[in-house]
Amino acid sequence: MTHIPHRPIGRTALSVPELGFGAASLGNLYAPVADADARAAVDAALAAGLRYVDTAPHYGRGLSERRVGDALRLQPDTVVSTKVGRLMDPDASITDDHERDGFRSPMPFRMRYDYTHDGILRSHEHSLQRLGVAKIDLLYVHDIGRYTHGDAADGYWQQLTAGGGLKALERLRDEGTITGFGIGVNEIQVCLDVMAEARLDAILLAGRYTLLEQDALDALFPACEAAGTSIVIGGPYNSGILATGTRRGGTIHYDYGPAPGHVLARVRGIEAIADRHAVALPAAALAFVLAHPLVASVIPGIGSAARAAQTVDLYHAAIPPAFWEELRAEGLLRGDAPVPGAAA
Ligand SMILES: NC(=O)c1ccc[n+]([C@@H]2O[C@H](COP(=O)([O-])OP(=O)(O)OC[C@H]3O[C@@H](n4cnc5c(N)ncnc54)[C@H](OP(=O)(O)O)[C@@H]3O)[C@@H](O)[C@H]2O)c1
Repeated sequence: MTHIPHRPIGRTALSVPELGFGAASLGNLYAPVADADARAAVDAALAAGLRYVDTAPHYGRGLSERRVGDALRLQPDTVVSTKVGRLMDPDASITDDHERDGFRSPMPFRMRYDYTHDGILRSHEHSLQRLGVAKIDLLYVHDIGRYTHGDAADGYWQQLTAGGGLKALERLRDEGTITGFGIGVNEIQVCLDVMAEARLDAILLAGRYTLLEQDALDALFPACEAAGTSIVIGGPYNSGILATGTRRGGTIHYDYGPAPGHVLARVRGIEAIADRHAVALPAAALAFVLAHPLVASVIPGIGSAARAAQTVDLYHAAIPPAFWEELRAEGLLRGDAPVPGAAA
């Protein structure tokens, strides 16, 4: 088994391997994954030392949690994070397995947002049942904020704050039913807002600190450093483009949609430098985020055993220092972003 170093989560006793497994894929995100392939993906990842898996009720309306639970339940030394904020209600009127919210053949439940005290406790209970475990290591408040909710965000914010959602999480942490909690989001401002209300152990930040964009360095990372809050990087390929590059046929994905022109142009610039240094773009995307000391783990999306093995190879790839220097010199990387093997 490859050795993957562990890093601490906030001020908890928990540590996670710095390379983990993003299991939105196992809820059939965009493409169906057969049960056996889902199991093989987790087994291959575990065998390779990726013993941190992130899932959520949202991912296939419970499907990803069920699959992750089946694969991990009796495995020692594994860390699981899941999320709260969406309840899955049984609904007899759902009789098809059409795609819902991007997930193919999801479980036949109706999804309802609920960030209240009771909603969060219920969601946690449901996750224990689907995962088949007695304790969840990390629980993230999923997709609170305007990126997901637009104008409805204020109402959900009230549920989480005045409605006791954060209090419920503090209670679960105090009881030891979870080891730590935080939020899992694709935006920066809401992280700062929640940090003003509660002590977070970790923030799962998706797509907002990557080889493509580093605005999180301005206010968020200093706030996390002061509060002792770790960062887990989701969506390290910005949902695709930093893995696929720009040159293959078909749609190139950025933030779960077609990549806009300015993003394509920037990635083409990075690709040109990667070519000159014989660097694989996804290898650079993984190594870059792990160079930041606040980052506890990076969790790329993995949907097959082959992808798990390839991801481990990318993680181990050597990247010459001159690659990072040239990115900085060309204005394609912020000068204050730490890079592997060098101080910021
Ligand atoms: N709000 C939140 O809490 C939140 C939001 C987003 C993400 N996350 C977490 O972060 C995890 C990862 O995010 P993500 O899956 O959305 O995005 P991602 O890891 O940035 O990108 C995944 C995409 O990249 C492709 N890919 C991965 N490795 C590749 C490779 N070596 N070569 C070519 N293509 C490759 C995958 O294709 P294939 O499908 O073909 O492998 C998939 O389409 C999620 O599973 C979830 O755990 C959390």
